[in-house]
Amino acid sequence: MAKKIVTYPNKILIRKCAEIKEITPNIKALAKELIESLIKSQGLGLAAPQIGESKSIIAVWAEEGAQVFINPKIIKKSRKKEIGEEGCLSFPGLYLKIKRAQKVEVEALTLQGEKIKLITQDLAARVFQHEIDHLNGILFIDRVGFWQRMKIKRKLRRN
Ligand code: CO
Repeated sequence: MAKKIVTYPNKILIRKCAEIKEITPNIKALAKELIESLIKSQGLGLAAPQIGESKSIIAVWAEEGAQVFINPKIIKKSRKKEIGEEGCLSFPGLYLKIKRAQKVEVEALTLQGEKIKLITQDLAARVFQHEIDHLNGILFIDRVGFWQRMKIKRKLRRN
């Protein structure tokens, strides 16, 4: 079942997630919920804390459909950066221009426990950087300048 998306300023969003040590039936159930929630919310990516689980797993759209990645890590980043507009399901209606590496190499485990390495670029690289940030308790509003962040926080408090 799709879960309700946790929105800012819920504290779980700023907590660092726990690594997944073993792919148990519970983790498989969480993976399924994450995928269902991603599909329902029509996002490009979703991280477990956004459905209330502080665990290191994300779901991202790929050609074959929504896929999960366990304990994903960025192991290489291009020096080249790009500015692009991002949204976040935990900040409905907020879109920000964020500078990210144009290309990143990601290491992760599949749901079958297989270690994989992906080379992603452009929008896919942006989605992985955004979702992996979530696992470290970092939000896209943390990636803008101080004054812009203050302005956003003030606006969010008013809503
Ligand atoms: Co997000």
